[in-house]
Amino acid sequence: MEIIRDIEKMQSRAEKTRQGGKRIALVPTMGALHEGHLALMDYGREKANLLVVSIFVNPIQFGPKEDFEKYPRDLQKDSRLTEKRGVDLIFSPEIKAFYPEFFQTYVTVEKVTQNLCGASRPGHFRGVTTVVCKLFNIVKPHLAIFGQKDFQQLIAIQQMVEDLHMDVEVVGRPTIREDDGLAMSSRNVFLSPEERISARSLFQAMQEGQSLFRMGERKTEVLLNRVRGLIMEQPFTRIDYAKICHPRTLEEVKVVEGRGVLALAVWVGATRLIDNCLLEDKGQ
Ligand code: PAF
Repeated sequence: MEIIRDIEKMQSRAEKTRQGGKRIALVPTMGALHEGHLALMDYGREKANLLVVSIFVNPIQFGPKEDFEKYPRDLQKDSRLTEKRGVDLIFSPEIKAFYPEFFQTYVTVEKVTQNLCGASRPGHFRGVTTVVCKLFNIVKPHLAIFGQKDFQQLIAIQQMVEDLHMDVEVVGRPTIREDDGLAMSSRNVFLSPEERISARSLFQAMQEGQSLFRMGERKTEVLLNRVRGLIMEQPFTRIDYAKICHPRTLEEVKVVEGRGVLALAVWVGATRLIDNCLLEDKGQ
């Protein structure tokens, strides 16, 4: 498996692949890979001839008080894992080449990034859509694969691709969970054993929300009271947000009509976890 750091080298490799009539799939990541990422790679492996994983801890999607410096990084381990999953190439650019001194162009998706993590992490999604747009221009994928755990990120990227007529198919894949339901995340390594137990409450609360919904409850206030209660019962938890939104616009709804997305961001100790689930009747 090859590792490319140079942007132009990646571009010309991508161009040659396209000219040879081959399909390129990209799994964008910030490294610290886990089974959630690897499942995205498995999907990409089936769909494309050249499977590229980008590994780049993107400084512009972190706020000044966020964990950019301490974000876990281990390129050697990541390359062992990707190689085992049949990845052809890792693209891991240097920060200085990716964002040179005079860099000044950003991509902003306006409405769907206002609520949820957009409200708690100003500038975060501008950083995400900018890096993803740049990665698309460098890796030139036919297909790009993202996890549904970062639901708002997925919606923002789909919106960017649609609005800017980008010639790439964006696919969202289901969240991969630990046995007790905790969504896999590179940040889970920061949880102490006691916090790790409290962190289960996100999944448990979502399940409770889904079961109330299936029993016919449609009022957001009632659903969220139950969800919040279950999370707050646990030690170490502090809710950043627990909201039910329209799954396309991400605007909050008072009553769920058709489908809704239950989205959570919860501090467990010093670690902020996000998760989400769809509220929909079985068979809908
Ligand atoms: O989901 C992530 O890991 C990052 O936000 C992404 C999409 C790789 C952009 O840096």
